[in-house]
Amino acid sequence: MYRKEIPDGFPKNFLWGGATAANQLEGAWNVGGKGLTTAEVVKKASSRTDLSEMNVVTKESIAEAIDDKTDELYPKRRGIDFYHHYKEDIALFAEMGFKAFRMSIAWARIFPNGDDKTPNEEGLKFYDSVFSECKKHGIEPVVTISHYEMPLALTLKQNGWADRKTIDAFVRYAETVFKRYKGIVKYWMTFNEINAATWGFMGTGAVDSNLSTPEQLNLRYQALHHQFVASAKAVQIGHKIDPENKIGCMIARMQTYPKTCNPRDVRAAQLQDELNLFFTDVQVRGEYPEYMNRYFKENGIELSMKPEDEDEIKKGTVDYLGFSYYMSTVTSGDSKVEKASGNFAMGELNPYLEASDWGWQIDPVGLRVTLNEYWDRYRVPLFIVENGLGALDKMDEDGQIHDPYRIDYMKKHIIQMKEAIKDGVDLMGYTMWGPIDLISASTSEMSKRYGFIYVDQDDEGNGTLKRYKKDSFYWYKKVIASNGKDLD
Ligand code: BG6
Repeated sequence: MYRKEIPDGFPKNFLWGGATAANQLEGAWNVGGKGLTTAEVVKKASSRTDLSEMNVVTKESIAEAIDDKTDELYPKRRGIDFYHHYKEDIALFAEMGFKAFRMSIAWARIFPNGDDKTPNEEGLKFYDSVFSECKKHGIEPVVTISHYEMPLALTLKQNGWADRKTIDAFVRYAETVFKRYKGIVKYWMTFNEINAATWGFMGTGAVDSNLSTPEQLNLRYQALHHQFVASAKAVQIGHKIDPENKIGCMIARMQTYPKTCNPRDVRAAQLQDELNLFFTDVQVRGEYPEYMNRYFKENGIELSMKPEDEDEIKKGTVDYLGFSYYMSTVTSGDSKVEKASGNFAMGELNPYLEASDWGWQIDPVGLRVTLNEYWDRYRVPLFIVENGLGALDKMDEDGQIHDPYRIDYMKKHIIQMKEAIKDGVDLMGYTMWGPIDLISASTSEMSKRYGFIYVDQDDEGNGTLKRYKKDSFYWYKKVIASNGKDLD
């Protein structure tokens, strides 16, 4: 009888590393010819657990932000000043043995106004330097072309992704960076968590798009459609410029469980899950799935599409599926239930799971469920491009940061990744979120720390910005050196 060998661990070229985003990391918001971005007009949230605020942006709040020339209320303007610390930070990643560093390019560093005649050379040069620093240390850059931001000018001019014209602006920007970094960057992702377009401003760049009116619901799906087309066009151009390019999508995965085995709950969970699989169905399979036709009809959503859009989406499917995984969710057919807080989406409380300081329910087995489900459905390489624990780390008087909870969290997730690989899943890498403490996407806090490296900065922006190694730093170094074998 013929039987294939079961893999006994991570593949040889597994991409171990960490993931970041320009708007949470770089700072230097008004330096080097950079334009203002949509992320830099979102205020620090007033609540730690209500994640809706980051998507609430109006014309008035933008005007107020433009008048404010400080970073006091807008922490994403200051980040952790990676712009001036990148050499030191990349050297620390290299010390941990990183094979890959996921980062994003700030669109407004390259096209400050979104539609400038020529790209901003100073911005392009900055990333030349970052990539060459990565290469010096043998680290593969993994680049997100747009991570939760765009030039604010495109919001002011055309309400961001609500307008079809933004497709051309994005494609031009993507083409510029594909050409400039040809042979230097091989791994790309078009949009971070493309499903964010259905939540509001951070994804759409359109004012008031968080509102639950029929018009705004329609606008969100229209904005998403424009991103699907833009992504598909960029994938085709990226492959033409360099056939070696590997270009992926990126989704916030929400594995949904039924609350009970009541078939009503099972069906409710299935629908919820489909609404999350929808994004990858489009970007990996290359077409809108049938179940969305019904969803659109029943929710009064009418998309305006050009005849060529379907063809573009079909031709622009991705090479790999990148996703973030922080938690799973629970759904029932009953609407009167206790809610859990979570990664921008709200599910119900799962009594079998513990939660982080921010109430995000921790579910390592759910990661395996997701990996197996994705692999069964799509048969393309998978890449976990975000996973991690936001926690309130404290520095001891002797300058040490002990974070056993982070080690425990990651260890449990890595064990499940290994199980999925044994099940036959093609997993190409793991870039955990926030290898160095950075500004939170949802709340703009600094005190929600994910890193192996502690950054001395508080929520108000006070601190020396000095970097310190946490216990998890030494742990992850061992994990990478042993290719995932030594997890203790
Ligand atoms: C992901 C985003 O959803 O979650 C990141 O892609 C974000 O940008 C991460 O930082 C963690 O979320 P938060 O809100 O804790 O920073």
